[in-house]
Amino acid sequence: MKLYICEICGDAYIGGEKPTDCPFCGARNNFIKLADEAKPIVNEKIEISEISKKNLLETLALETRANAMYLCMAGKASEYKIKAMYKRLAKVELEHAVIVTKLLGIAMPEIKSETCADENSENFQKTIELEDHAVELYKKFTSEATEPNIRKFFGALMQVEAGHIELIKNYL
Ligand SMILES: [Fe+2]
Ligand SMILES: [Fe+2]
Repeated sequence: MKLYICEICGDAYIGGEKPTDCPFCGARNNFIKLADEAKPIVNEKIEISEISKKNLLETLALETRANAMYLCMAGKASEYKIKAMYKRLAKVELEHAVIVTKLLGIAMPEIKSETCADENSENFQKTIELEDHAVELYKKFTSEATEPNIRKFFGALMQVEAGHIELIKNYL
């Protein structure tokens, strides 16, 4: 067994080999390092520019909303596997929100519940819209970030959310 650490969320993974993606935040495994070599972005105190601060707050709003939305969709899911998928998506988005609070050194805001459709198909469509929007936003935020760690964060998130779109497309 080895100890690995994800440089994006800072969470540790114990296993024989590193996973293909972080089980907590979904980051690709090029961000997962042996514990001795990992430099988690949440463990470095850095100056954050005004533009990145603004973009991180928008990210926090988006991720907490996605979390609430996916919890709603999990509740409406007609099959266990869809429910399980949305519960996992909700946890991943919450993890993204937690990373933002650590980067900004702020408390997690109260998360308001969201409404969603009764039908899986409508929720899949809504999920793709949400994730498409996130990918576009994080692409923009990556280019606006001057801090290497913040750029790394938005770049990693962009890949994770694009992966969520691929996943949902399996069900369309
Ligand atoms: Fe992670
Ligand atoms: Fe996310």
